[in-house]
Amino acid sequence: MTCPHIRFAVLDGVATIEIARAEKKNALTREMYSAMAQALKEAQAEGKVRAVLITGQPGIFTSGNDIEDFMSRPPGQGSDAMDSPVFQFMQALLSCDKPVIAAVTGAAIGIGTTLLLHCDFVYVSDEARLAMPFVSLGLVPEFASSLVVPQLMGHRRAAEKLLLGDPFTAEQAVECGIANAVLPASEVVNHARRVALRFNALPPGAVREAKQLMRAPQREAVLKTIREEGALFGARLRSPEAQEAFQAFFQKRKPDFSQF
Ligand code: COA
Repeated sequence: MTCPHIRFAVLDGVATIEIARAEKKNALTREMYSAMAQALKEAQAEGKVRAVLITGQPGIFTSGNDIEDFMSRPPGQGSDAMDSPVFQFMQALLSCDKPVIAAVTGAAIGIGTTLLLHCDFVYVSDEARLAMPFVSLGLVPEFASSLVVPQLMGHRRAAEKLLLGDPFTAEQAVECGIANAVLPASEVVNHARRVALRFNALPPGAVREAKQLMRAPQREAVLKTIREEGALFGARLRSPEAQEAFQAFFQKRKPDFSQF
């Protein structure tokens, strides 16, 4: 694994992918997406891996896509978009037919929350806040969140999160079906790991086929939505609205959308 910000290790049948860029709140760069995609593929291919654990750093799961990358190295548009590292990561997560468990160690923003929609088990620190502020950034939802979030919680509660970008607590994440349980911050990784270890005692073929069956009815719709969102997202990244939002973030001020 060449990216220093993604740690990958296999121990006792569990492949752990740890996001480790605390100084930038675990913001995800293109290199980090590529490394996570590679790690997921290795976990999928390695026979002794029975489950995958995705985790962050104390107090931060991930602040989402690196906004500097959004400005200077945005994913391609049109057919190129599907080759970009973020789409490779999405594809690898969707293709993983081993159980994926997320330990949400702290704030989960943007793709930090939407990736959870495609994990099988999600445990959240009681100190974590989640948010999908795509629209506030001049963007549109990604990773099929425009499909899955309304399905999970109904259109109106989804609108609070996807249109207004309202943050929500760990308890609310459980209540609306995004997470399984809230754990004390000091316990969340251990708890997620204990769940992952349980798959060592289960028949792996049956687990894989059961997961495939559970995901199959949605699979095509999820992929189609990711492509549709991706086409709009790529154009939005280059829009004056998004440029204003990104500049405002780095200038530590509120964005001003009054001129649009
Ligand atoms: N992309 C790039 N840099 C980011 C980042 C991101 N998504 N999130 C945080 N950072 C950087 C900050 O610019 C800052 O860098 P600096 O020390 O060089 O100034 C550093 O990480 C610390 O972030 P800061 O905002 O000071 O920490 P905080 O504890 O006050 O707030 C967050 C933490 C996660 C709430 C806040 O950083 C945030 O809202 N980040 C952006 C989330 C976002 O909009 N993501 C995109 C979703 S599509």
